[in-house]
Amino acid sequence: MSEVSFDGRVAIVTGAGGGLGRAHALELARRGAKVVINDLGGDISGTNGGTAMADQVVAEITAAGGEAVSNYDSVATPEGGAAIVKTAVDAFGKVDILVNNAGNIRNAPFTDLTPEAVDALLAVHVKGAFYVTQPAFENMREHGYGRIVFTSSAAGLFGSIQQANYAAAKGAVFGLANVVALEGRPHGILANTILPAADSRMAADMNPEQFAGMPTTPAHGEPEMITAMVAYLASELNTSTHELYSIARGRYARVFMGVGQGWHVKVDEPVATPDDVAAHIDQIRNLDGYAVPGSMIEEFALVK
Ligand SMILES: NC(=O)c1ccc[n+]([C@@H]2O[C@H](COP(=O)([O-])OP(=O)(O)OC[C@H]3O[C@@H](n4cnc5c(N)ncnc54)[C@H](O)[C@@H]3O)[C@@H](O)[C@H]2O)c1
Repeated sequence: MSEVSFDGRVAIVTGAGGGLGRAHALELARRGAKVVINDLGGDISGTNGGTAMADQVVAEITAAGGEAVSNYDSVATPEGGAAIVKTAVDAFGKVDILVNNAGNIRNAPFTDLTPEAVDALLAVHVKGAFYVTQPAFENMREHGYGRIVFTSSAAGLFGSIQQANYAAAKGAVFGLANVVALEGRPHGILANTILPAADSRMAADMNPEQFAGMPTTPAHGEPEMITAMVAYLASELNTSTHELYSIARGRYARVFMGVGQGWHVKVDEPVATPDDVAAHIDQIRNLDGYAVPGSMIEEFALVK
């Protein structure tokens, strides 16, 4: 069996100063990657920056014989994204791997969420992933190889109470990843998305009410559990793209977006009325024989 190796590869991990990002960066470096450790170094809401978090992880990597450099820019602006990628190119000559991991959180019931709490999360999760991936993608395209891992969340894909801003942002990350995957494939750039669950300062910030109905207390497991999947997706061994993986409580599973066979009124037939929809709602909701389209075009092509 081949082993995951990153010899000769250059990686960027955003938000790598702690939690999941730190674990990803340590593993990539341990397996030979030269790594840019990006972290704003702030608190859980994404405010108050500092250099200590990124520098600490760089120190851990270099002490273990690996290669890493710090970057303290925020992912949330085009200038920050460009500076993060420039750090990789200046230090190591290129970018092969990008793990979009930086994130912040501000939980509250839907009607209590302030515009500031919405903007702050969209800025880091969505704009952050967008603005770091854009220049990284350009560099990967130049040398015809890339592996990008986006970090979404079960909250974004399946829903989670008191996290409307977070879920909206994480859902948008999935939308972004789908297009990066489609545009990247011809250039050897593969992009996949993870839905992680692991113990970190972010997980600890959840209100117990948000876990109501779970079978046990919300001990998710070590960040390294997520890292195993991230490192595989970031490696040459991975040939999948445009896919979504959940890593929760020790279970690794593909998640997919599917469409049922539905009820079909052909375009040259009389337009359906709301009463027609009511009459066929069971057929419309039925998921038997669903398909998993690989793009918008593939979805449209299913309808003959
Ligand atoms: N822990 C979980 O169970 C869980 C579940 C679903 C998704 N996630 C996602 O996984 C990722 C990692 O989360 P974590 O649990 O390790 O939390 P964490 O708070 O430990 O890590 C997030 C890191 O991102 C950094 N960061 C925040 N804003 C930044 C910015 N503008 N620019 C650069 N860095 C910034 C923080 O300083 C922090 O080190 C996040 O995207 C999070 O949303 C985590």
